[in-house]
Amino acid sequence: MSNPRPYDVVLYGASGFTGRQTVEYFAEHVGEQIRWAIAGRNPQQLEQVKTNCAVTVDVLVADSQDQDGLDTIAEQSHVILNTAGPFALYGDAMVDACVRKQTHYVDITGETPWVKSLIQRYHAKAAADGTRIIPFCGFDSVPSDLGTYLVVRFMQQALGLPCHWVKAYFQMAGGLNGGTLASAINLMQSGQAAQMADPFLLNPQEDSPQTGSSLSKDPQRPQYDSDLQAWTAPFFMGPVNTRVVRRSSALFDRWQEPYGAHFAYQEYLKFDGPLTAIGITVGTGLFGLALSQSWARRLLQSWLPQPGSGPSTQVMDEGWFRCELIGQASNGQQVRGLIQNQGDPGNRSTVKFLCESALCLATQIDQLPGHHRGGVLTPATGLGDVLADRLRQAETNIELAIV
Ligand SMILES: NC(=O)c1ccc[n+]([C@@H]2O[C@H](COP(=O)([O-])OP(=O)(O)OC[C@H]3O[C@@H](n4cnc5c(N)ncnc54)[C@H](OP(=O)(O)O)[C@@H]3O)[C@@H](O)[C@H]2O)c1
Repeated sequence: MSNPRPYDVVLYGASGFTGRQTVEYFAEHVGEQIRWAIAGRNPQQLEQVKTNCAVTVDVLVADSQDQDGLDTIAEQSHVILNTAGPFALYGDAMVDACVRKQTHYVDITGETPWVKSLIQRYHAKAAADGTRIIPFCGFDSVPSDLGTYLVVRFMQQALGLPCHWVKAYFQMAGGLNGGTLASAINLMQSGQAAQMADPFLLNPQEDSPQTGSSLSKDPQRPQYDSDLQAWTAPFFMGPVNTRVVRRSSALFDRWQEPYGAHFAYQEYLKFDGPLTAIGITVGTGLFGLALSQSWARRLLQSWLPQPGSGPSTQVMDEGWFRCELIGQASNGQQVRGLIQNQGDPGNRSTVKFLCESALCLATQIDQLPGHHRGGVLTPATGLGDVLADRLRQAETNIELAIV
């Protein structure tokens, strides 16, 4: 990547609900320290974003289906930050452009079947070229993936032991974006949702994953967790985040930097008592059932936020999340981790995680794990400690301790 490119980062999808917040984040935290531009399909809306955010950046225009236009955008930047989703609908040509133009890429998809298709199409070429294609850089799946990485490496360094398993427990408050609902509905309508049941969907195909551990099975019901000494329920994002963490573990195995033999990961929601755990499990099950029925999807689409909209500023400011992690070595010794952030997880945390991920690639490429590492990566394998340090500096609380 020695050819001169006019931009360090291009923010594509900058006129969407999340995209507008990435522009605000760059305006507030980056300013003119790096060369950045905004991009999307609609020049008028992009100009409006520029005015609202009081920034004097360039505006680049190309529809998500305009391969030549996206090629021109990708070849002008070192990094593309993409918020134009549903990614299964709007992401293909941009990733294609980034892989061919050797432009690093981050997004906030949670659409695991789409990422599976990216791995099949692009992992080998991106790995050979050292291009880092890193989906899942939002609330899905940075706390799970980076948190697990930090707990495992802390255990290995502090105790000198490989890790047997990690469990993560989430608590949160926040809102729902229209774009997120549109992505979930598209997953159902496209018939790809069934693929999400595979616990090792994102593992390299030639691997034979360790399917034996009970932690590899998605939890179905509330239960008391004796390690946490609290009640838990299935986490609706677990079927996404667990696949990402397992891909990280499998990639580290390949690079001879393993988490531990037969490493397993699972995650849950945490509750004070059984009643809320039961209530949330039933509610999540009913919502999932509704999403699987076309008539109920139509109703939900008319009631819930539309693409382009999302929670109020107050809801986004007052939201929060807390992710507790427990890691256990094969001799039973445990390590605890905590990642927490103020603000709506799907907006404030997502925007911070995504923007800081792009800035890792734009400004600290030589410090990232794995010299010249490329491929369809994960936050842990593509960004690792550099992202953790940037998030700490950006007021995300990250703690690690031996129990
Ligand atoms: N991981 C997480 O925690 C997390 C959190 C929030 C959102 N997300 C995901 O992020 C994505 C965006 O969410 P959002 O709430 O920001 O959605 P949104 O407000 O609907 O934004 C969608 C963006 O896609 C653009 N777009 C639509 N069709 C396009 C096309 N043909 N060509 C180019 N651009 C096109 C829109 O452009 P216009 O402005 O011109 O309409 C807009 O910029 C969704 O997939 C959502 O699931 C993930």
